[in-house]
Amino acid sequence: IDESVPPQTLKARDLEALADYIKSGKVKNVVVMTGAGISTSAGIPDFRSPDTGLYANLARLNLPYAEAVFDISYFKENPEPFYTLAHEIYPGKYRPTIAHSFIRLLHDKGILLKLFTQNIDCLEREAGVPDDKIVEAHGSFARQSCIECHQPYPEDDIKQHIAAKSIPRCHECKGLVKPEIVFFGEQLPAAFFHNRHLPQDSDLCIVMGTSLTVQPFASLPEMTRTATPRVLINKERVGGLGSGTDDILLLGDCDDGVKKLAKACGWLGELEKLWAKT
Ligand code: APR
Repeated sequence: IDESVPPQTLKARDLEALADYIKSGKVKNVVVMTGAGISTSAGIPDFRSPDTGLYANLARLNLPYAEAVFDISYFKENPEPFYTLAHEIYPGKYRPTIAHSFIRLLHDKGILLKLFTQNIDCLEREAGVPDDKIVEAHGSFARQSCIECHQPYPEDDIKQHIAAKSIPRCHECKGLVKPEIVFFGEQLPAAFFHNRHLPQDSDLCIVMGTSLTVQPFASLPEMTRTATPRVLINKERVGGLGSGTDDILLLGDCDDGVKKLAKACGWLGELEKLWAKT
């Protein structure tokens, strides 16, 4: 990046150059990596934003430390805090954001290779990104099972328990039931390891709404080839993004960032129509 060029111009030039690259037809395999920041405008708090983040607001749950709410050994001792939180963030009452629709638009244009998400809100699915294009690296609320005997647990039953803030127990062995969200101390799904080489096959990498603090997800953007442009759409710079010669920083709100990029590509009308239908 030519440091002598003032950052503002840099962004504008980069955005135009990026849009030209996308419109040239050379971009066929985009990988997208997302975190909680793309769902905050849907009303779901992220984790680490100073005042609004989940971890800043869990004090009422008397946790030994904030991330205990997603810690498997703490959950086995005390599942209450998680189920109190699950009552608030369980999918079904939130609408996808225009950032989710942008990912769906990439799929509709036939250029989405894979979406890696850390989110458990299933909003990418609701925005119409097909299942085979999504890797839910930290699992999701889509399925639940007994942590003792691994017996799957009926969705209707867990919905009742979550609505009532009560603790679901396995119908077979009375063990604790947990949605298949990856807790700290648990392995990521096999799908993550089967697909984590894909960034090296990509010709564009878009990272959105994540602090890139949790491994191994945070290493995904490093898996791209040096020639692959990496775009960060986030409130602040994160990870090593911005240091690569082809990194493009669209710093600010995710929704604004995707609208700017869509506009530069001549897709804004299409994107807004898509989102309006979601
Ligand atoms: N627009 C742009 N950026 C945003 C917005 C927004 N509307 N809202 C939040 N952000 C940014 C924040 O500034 C931060 O950089 O998104 C990032 C969110 O970071 P985190 O809260 O750490 O969320 P995430 O990166 O998804 O967390 C990763 O941590 O606790 C675990 O398993 C959990 O999957 C989660 C993982």
